[in-house]
Amino acid sequence: MKVLTAPLETQNYCRNRRAEGKQIGLVPTMGFLHEGHLSLVRGARGDNDCVVVSIFVNPTQFGPNEDFQSYPRDLERDCCLLEAEGVDLIFAPTAEEMYPTNSATFVEVAGSITKGLCGASRPNHFRGVTTVVSKLFNVVHPHRAYFGQKDAQQLAVIKRMVSDLNMDIKIVPMPIIREPDGLAMSSRNRYLNPEARRSATVLHRSLQLAKGLIEGGERNAEKVIAAIREMIEQAKLARIDYVEIVDVEGLEPVEEIEGEILIALAVFISEPRLIDNLHIRVPSK
Ligand code: PAJ
Repeated sequence: MKVLTAPLETQNYCRNRRAEGKQIGLVPTMGFLHEGHLSLVRGARGDNDCVVVSIFVNPTQFGPNEDFQSYPRDLERDCCLLEAEGVDLIFAPTAEEMYPTNSATFVEVAGSITKGLCGASRPNHFRGVTTVVSKLFNVVHPHRAYFGQKDAQQLAVIKRMVSDLNMDIKIVPMPIIREPDGLAMSSRNRYLNPEARRSATVLHRSLQLAKGLIEGGERNAEKVIAAIREMIEQAKLARIDYVEIVDVEGLEPVEEIEGEILIALAVFISEPRLIDNLHIRVPSK
């Protein structure tokens, strides 16, 4: 397994693999890997001849009061995990290599898809994500790129970017990997103290409650949202950022639950803000 930090060297390596007729799969990450990330790597390993994993804590997607400085990092451990998965190349650039001081270009998906949900409380977050992911796509030029449904809005925004900009890359969505008690795996779970960790299961539990209501015939989004909010408000240390039911593509709120919808929520559990979602298909009447 190779580890490169220079974008040009990485581009040359990937160009050579492509010239050999190899299919390239890219898994973009910010490192501090867990089973969620590794499930993406395994997906990529199964579909491609050459697997590239990027590890880069991207400064442009963090807000001024967010956890960029304290975001967990452990490149050595990440390299061991990826070596064991048979990864071909880790691309782990420095911030200076990704954003030289004269860097002045951003890629932005406009409209409600980036303004709602997480975009409301993280104004420039998705602009940072689409900019860095475009750069990674230009460096690696993969055939396929793998993204987790855990970050459902990120996935929708990236799909829109790829379609709007005619990028010749297949976006492969991967299911959410959870802890045995249902908590979605996240690098930020390590910020939870034991009491907060117990409370954090309320995200998944409230989504399961919603699923039960919908399976029982409830179609009124407002009522389902109210039931979710009520359960979360009872959990210790929990403070709701948002609970919404939206259509899966445009992420616009729906009133009536039908077709393919996403129940998405973000909740502060003491300090950390955790997200989770449930993607369901409800047959139209
Ligand atoms: P990061 O949070 O490190 O996540 C990298 C990828 O792993 C994302 O596609 C994310 O959805 C996926 N992932 C995280 N937890 C998961 C889980 N429990 N189950 C399944 N997949 C999971 O997302 C980012 O980094 C960044 O925004 C990035 C796309 C790398 C751009 O900087």
